[in-house]
Formats: sequence, structure tokens, C-alpha cells
Amino acid sequence: MTRMLERSSALPTPAGSLAPDIPLPHASLARRRLHSRWPARLDLLQSASGLFLALFLVAHMFFVSSILISQEAFYTVARFFEGAYFLATPQPWIVSCVVGGVLAVFVLHAWLALRKFPANFRQYKAFAEHRAGLRHDDTGLWWIQLWTGFALFFLASIHLYGMLVHPELIGPYESADRVWTGSMWPLYLLLLFAAEIHGSIGLYRLALKWDWLPGRDPVAARRRLRMLKTAFSLFFIALGLLSLLAYVRLGIAHADRAGERYQPSGDGAPANVASGMNVAPAMAPVRRGG
Ligand code: HEM
Repeated sequence: MTRMLERSSALPTPAGSLAPDIPLPHASLARRRLHSRWPARLDLLQSASGLFLALFLVAHMFFVSSILISQEAFYTVARFFEGAYFLATPQPWIVSCVVGGVLAVFVLHAWLALRKFPANFRQYKAFAEHRAGLRHDDTGLWWIQLWTGFALFFLASIHLYGMLVHPELIGPYESADRVWTGSMWPLYLLLLFAAEIHGSIGLYRLALKWDWLPGRDPVAARRRLRMLKTAFSLFFIALGLLSLLAYVRLGIAHADRAGERYQPSGDGAPANVASGMNVAPAMAPVRRGG
């Protein structure tokens, strides 16, 4: 139908975009581009992938922070995701599949976000001037989201790759050894701030964009949403810092036995977990010092 209208040139020419003397095939192509639904579809896809990643991150932070309850609690969560409680034996490849899925969404989200990055110095400067002129808080937030997103390209990729190729090395000692003896804590610290700030701003912007504002007064609703955003960041940064501290402390205490696998003390172990796993795996973190 749209095509028929285009052909019969019943659609008005958008002001200033098409000169009347442009030959018909070119004019129709340009008009089709102007009326393309793809930018909107890609925007929707970016919002959906961002929402998925933000919700995943919320769940992930709770799983990881189970170390704050006890080593056994974290061990139980890790084995649960390997299917230890409903399959004959734990299957770490299940975790690799989940990581693969998250990685795919992460790459898709990053690729879609690239469309909005300033592409050259002129665009970068134009945006910086625009931002300085506007002095609008939300434009500032977009800028922060751009830079935290840029940092996540590198930081999250390193973490996800480690989880993808060594899903079996997730456990109280294994994780603590990676964090401390494997020197991952500085990366996790940066990743924590980047991910939580990026995620909270992302959710805030999603709520504004798709009009999920709570209440009728838009100004008051925006203020409430901002408070929620800050509370979200603060809560998950605090939870992440406490968990990271727990991994660091356990890693320091376990440094002279780095590479040793965790063995639950009884009830916490699924019956099907093979005993005698208390050996250093090939890719265990290298010991520091003597
Ligand atoms: C399915 C994918 C993922 C899995 C299986 C996973 C698993 C883990 C595990 C087991 C830890 C504990 C430390 C360790 O063992 O090395 C951890 C820590 C962490 N992960 Fe992930 N992760 C995933 C995806 C992500 C993503 C996409 C992000 C952020 C963009 C992220 C951010 C973090 C942060 C910041 C920490 C440090 C936690 C803290 O401060 O307590 N993870 N992750």
C-alpha cells in the first residue's frame, strides 16, 4: 500500500529534503529511507536488550552476593546453575550456554549503541558544545552512559570470556582465588561501578522514553524516578563492594592453597557431586610468591 502511494507520489515531499526535480527512482528511494521503520525497530531492540541485561545484572548481583551468607550458600548457587540438583551430575557447560546467550545480547546491545556514538571529532565537539549550552541533567546522564558503556565493552568482555571458558571454576575458593591470586579485583571494581551506573541510568532513560512515569505530574514523577535511579546504583554498588570484599578476604586467607577446589562440609553438597575433586585444575590462578 505504502509502495503504491509512493509510486503515485500521493505522499507529500518532506520539506527541504527532496527537490522536486530529483529523478523519480532516486526520490522514491530517498522517501522510502525517510519512512523506514528500521530506526524505530533498532531503537526498540536496543531498549529490549538493555532491559534484559539490566534485569540479568540485578539477578546476577544477588547470586554473587550469596557469598555474604556463607561459602556453602554460594557453592549451592553455583552447583544449581550446573544442574546438580536435577541432573545425574553437574554440567558446567550449561553455565557456558547461559554465558554465551548473555554475551550475544551484550554484543547486540553494544552494536546497536554504536549508532549513537559520536563518529568523529566534529560530532564529538558539536555534542560537547550542545551539552555545555543546554546544561540539562538528562543530557549529562546520556554522556555518562556513553562513557560507562564504552568502558563496559572491555571490562565486561574480559569477565564474560573467563566465565564462558571456565564455568567449572565458579565456587567459593575458585572465585576467591580468581579475585585475589588471579588479580581480578581491580577489574571487578571498575566493572562494578561502570555496570551499576550504566544500568541505573539505562533503566531511568527507558522509563522516560517509554513513558513508564509513576504518577500524573511529570515533573514530580521525573524527580521520583531520579531518586529511584540513585537508590538503585547505591544499593547495588554497596552490595557489590561488600561481596567483593568477602571474595578478597577469602582469597587472601586461601592464597597459599590457591587452586584447591572447595568441598562442602556435608549437607550443602548435592549427592551427585563426585568426591575427590580437591585437585588444582589446569587453569587455576597462579600462586603469588613462594
Ligand atoms: C552469564 C554471565 C555471567 C556469569 C556466569 C557471571 C558470574 C560471576 C561470578 C561467579 C562472579 C564472582 C567472581 C568470580 O567468580 O570471578 C562475578 C562477579 C562479578 N560480575 Fe559477573 N557474571 C556474568 C555476567 C556479568 C555481566 C554481564 C556483568 C556486568 C556487565 C558482570 C559483572 C560482575 C561484577 C561487577 C562482579 C564483581 C562482583 C562484586 O563486586 O561482588 N557479570 N560474576
